[in-house]
Amino acid sequence: MNYKPVQIRSIGMAVPETVITNDDLTKILDTSDEWISTRTGIKQRFIANGDENSTLFGIQAAKDAINKSNLQGADIDAIIVASSNPYNIYPSTGCAIQEAIGAKKAIAFDITAACTGMLYALEIGRSFIAAGKYKNILLVASDTNSKFLDWNDRASCVLFGDGAGAIIISESEDGKDDILALNINADGTMGRHITMNLVGDNCPLVKPSELGQQKITMNGKEVYKFVVQTMPESIMHCLKDANLEPKDIDYLVPHQANLRIIEGLQNRLEFDDEKVIVNIDKYGNTSAASVPIALAEALESGKIKTPSKAILCAFGAGMAWGSAVVNLRENLK
Ligand code: ACO
Repeated sequence: MNYKPVQIRSIGMAVPETVITNDDLTKILDTSDEWISTRTGIKQRFIANGDENSTLFGIQAAKDAINKSNLQGADIDAIIVASSNPYNIYPSTGCAIQEAIGAKKAIAFDITAACTGMLYALEIGRSFIAAGKYKNILLVASDTNSKFLDWNDRASCVLFGDGAGAIIISESEDGKDDILALNINADGTMGRHITMNLVGDNCPLVKPSELGQQKITMNGKEVYKFVVQTMPESIMHCLKDANLEPKDIDYLVPHQANLRIIEGLQNRLEFDDEKVIVNIDKYGNTSAASVPIALAEALESGKIKTPSKAILCAFGAGMAWGSAVVNLRENLK
């Protein structure tokens, strides 16, 4: 079988307008800017206000990616949305985006792989293209964690922000594949360390569930230990699959969950600061949207120069994690 190569066409992003700083959080929590920024690198985050939600930000990021490509909504064949806290379970966020961008012929659906959602979406999307099933695919990651956080739990609520990112991939026009390697992974035995349930209410004719609705819970220490072990392995594995070494890579675009985790990866790869894309100070952890937001912002600001090669990597609830080695084409926006 002849697999079709994939071109990364454009990257979009959107975040709410409302900024909440670490100092703002001291009004509702026993915390401090010093604790949060020293332990995590976060200084502020964008937070959904009023009726704003992950569908809205997903649509905005999708439109940004469409505007930066030379495609129209009608050219899109498939929309895959990664979200762990969608506004609606159904209709899916993908269907709402399909309507908003006029992608009339596109199939549309949502997936959940928490913070690794965009890498899972990329794997599904590139497999569709490789198999010759669809030509132009819009991948969107959108999360509004702020609605599901326990705002009394200072160990978790200070870490997250809201936002959306989008990537358009297409069947490559020149035969070159921009996805040089990609691996995604999962370990359900670690699932209990980051959770968010949707219990709902049982039928009134049966016993009510005793589980109750939970907000996001996280055992930060266990997540940290797991990630510092698995993430470098995943990246090294990916580099090997791409037949490349760290020195061949121009940029690391990591999931923005904790600056210390990012610095650990940087040290392992022996990268200088300018090769590592960090924006956790401004956005906090925006879950699945984290990697595409970092990529979109760094391309826009010129911090990432093209053509270049980048490692993308993410991890989160599941536990799920993954890495990709990608080509960023000249003038990619
Ligand atoms: N402000 C002030 N003090 C705090 C805060 C806060 N916001 N949060 C916790 N503390 C206190 C704790 O109560 C504890 O106090 P104690 O020693 O008196 O008991 C102390 O600070 C140390 O707490 P730890 O939890 O041990 O802090 P740690 O150094 O482990 O850092 C952190 C916590 C930042 C969460 C870290 O463990 C981490 O980043 N883990 C990884 C999280 C992650 O990457 N998640 C990604 C996935 S998210 C997803 O997929 C949905």
